[in-house]
Amino acid sequence: MAEQLAGWKRSKRVAEVTAADLNSELCLMGWCSTQRDLGNILFLLLRDRSGELQLVFDEDSPRDLLEQAKKVRSEYVIAVKGTLRRRSAPNPELPTGLWELAVSELKILSTAETPPFYIDDEDKSRESLHLEYRYLDLRRPKMRERMIFRHRLTKFTRDWFDREGFLEIETPFLVKSTPEGARDYLVPSRVHPGKFFALPQSPQIFKQILMVAGLDRYMQIARCFRDEDLRADRQPEFTQIDVEMSFVDQEDVFAIAEAYFHDLFAELMAVDIPLPLPRLTWAEAMRRFGSDKPDMRFGMELKDITELAKELDFKVLSEHTVEGHSVQAIVAEKAKFSRKEIDRLSEVVKNYKAKGLLWLLNEDEVRGSFLKFVTPEWCERLFSEVNAEKGDYVFIVADQTEIARNAIGHLRLELAQCLDLIPKNSWNLLWVVDFPMFEYDEESQRYVPAHHPFTSPLPEDLDRLDTEPQNCHAQCYDLVLNGNELTSGSIRIHDSKLQHKIFDLLGLPETEIEERFGFLLKAFRYGVPPHGGFAIGLDRLLMLLTDSDSIRDVIAFPKVQNSSCLMSEAPSPVPSADIEILGLELSAETAAQLAAEAQLQQQGENGEEA
Ligand code: AMO
Repeated sequence: MAEQLAGWKRSKRVAEVTAADLNSELCLMGWCSTQRDLGNILFLLLRDRSGELQLVFDEDSPRDLLEQAKKVRSEYVIAVKGTLRRRSAPNPELPTGLWELAVSELKILSTAETPPFYIDDEDKSRESLHLEYRYLDLRRPKMRERMIFRHRLTKFTRDWFDREGFLEIETPFLVKSTPEGARDYLVPSRVHPGKFFALPQSPQIFKQILMVAGLDRYMQIARCFRDEDLRADRQPEFTQIDVEMSFVDQEDVFAIAEAYFHDLFAELMAVDIPLPLPRLTWAEAMRRFGSDKPDMRFGMELKDITELAKELDFKVLSEHTVEGHSVQAIVAEKAKFSRKEIDRLSEVVKNYKAKGLLWLLNEDEVRGSFLKFVTPEWCERLFSEVNAEKGDYVFIVADQTEIARNAIGHLRLELAQCLDLIPKNSWNLLWVVDFPMFEYDEESQRYVPAHHPFTSPLPEDLDRLDTEPQNCHAQCYDLVLNGNELTSGSIRIHDSKLQHKIFDLLGLPETEIEERFGFLLKAFRYGVPPHGGFAIGLDRLLMLLTDSDSIRDVIAFPKVQNSSCLMSEAPSPVPSADIEILGLELSAETAAQLAAEAQLQQQGENGEEA
């Protein structure tokens, strides 16, 4: 039987003991992480949120205590009383390794089944098992540290923005569809059958309305929901540090964001980030790095060799020397690649829609994949133009410029990984500015906002809105950290006429504008301050600062690839009455599928063969 606390009071956490506690009587509580039974002496390691401490039971312990301690298994929750003393054999691996608690009393507060994996940072069992038993996973030191770090970061953030005069204001979860561009999670309304709330993709519209309301500086640690394909840096629900400010231009917004990141790195990472942060225009980022989130911790910039390629009688290249197409090259210095590795690199560019990868190796006798079509002189000129020395590879992709740059931009990242060019513990922050205002969506054959429809055009591009919208740039910016898009924001349109014009350009019919954004436009009729802001991806920031592989590692209860939770098994079927009351009905096909799944599960639980 598990015992009650019955007056036992915990003195402190196990790793909070200090030399001042030596020879004092302490009461400690936690989980037994390991046992070492040497017959007449027994050691237990006691774990809690702070760390671990050795407990010792020996001949000096009261009678029966040793026998009772032998019953304690891994992950039992216990309470002990005893005296802190110096260890005869200190353990330098453990922060508390100088001391141990000589136990005089023990209570078993809770027993535990054998865990399905070792609660240890080195455990290599599959991630899905860790996620199914997340409460055990969170007992691992690394996970615990990440959760504590997450708390420190959000606490730091709230305090920092408070000092700068920002108010944290919660915005609703049950909202009208928001304009972030992913698919909405919908919530049916029982009170209004056939009508739906959406979960917010971001608090965008609400934070703008808070500016209309005169609240001036807003921030929120805000949960956002987006039904989109998941990747290592994407979750269907994630958290933003969401910020909006009134009476500001882009420089004012940058000053706040930069000061925040500077102080955050100083306080939490002991790293000095020199300000102001560098800026690249979107066009320059694409040209030099083939990415709108360039990783500038290493060089290896793209070289446009379209002019040189024009001289060749080689269709693969020459057909891409026309308007809208180009030939892009990149140099991998002092590299050695096998055929197989080059095939793998070709796959990388093909994954990004390029047709293939060409290469030349600068050696006394040049090697390469298209030697038949080049002269030694041409190769020399190429090597000199792209600065390829002896022993360097030149990789080439020819395609529509957008595709060629994007593909070789990804190849650049892959090469940097395999050539180990990315310095450890370095922090590269930069702004990418002047994004295009619109992107052309081939599928719907119309312009869509590159950011969201409330983003203001660059003042100097206003005249272009009517004549060449594709060349119009926005007062929109991203903050990039080590090649990851960490933050996005913009200066908003605060003029109703201009806002309507943008909606027109986006081809949104009046009825749809009214239906989706009418309440914002109505608010805009009552005095709107110039305003702008940004949102920082909190999980992404944490992932990078804690050097984690995925944002799942910094979220207590994340979802997996198919947007489900392995621990709680959400989403799950609900009784048909609960669906009916919402005025909804499952299709016959969906109902049959659910029934089949339920049957399979039942068979599994009964141990029957499927
Ligand atoms: P945006 O949609 O670019 O902008 O999002 C801002 C930042 O949020 C993070 N992020 C995500 N993190 C994890 N999982 C996701 N699915 C995910 N999607 C986005 C990224 C991104 O840079 N309302 C605007 C901001 C503004 O204009 O003020 C917005 O949400 O780090």
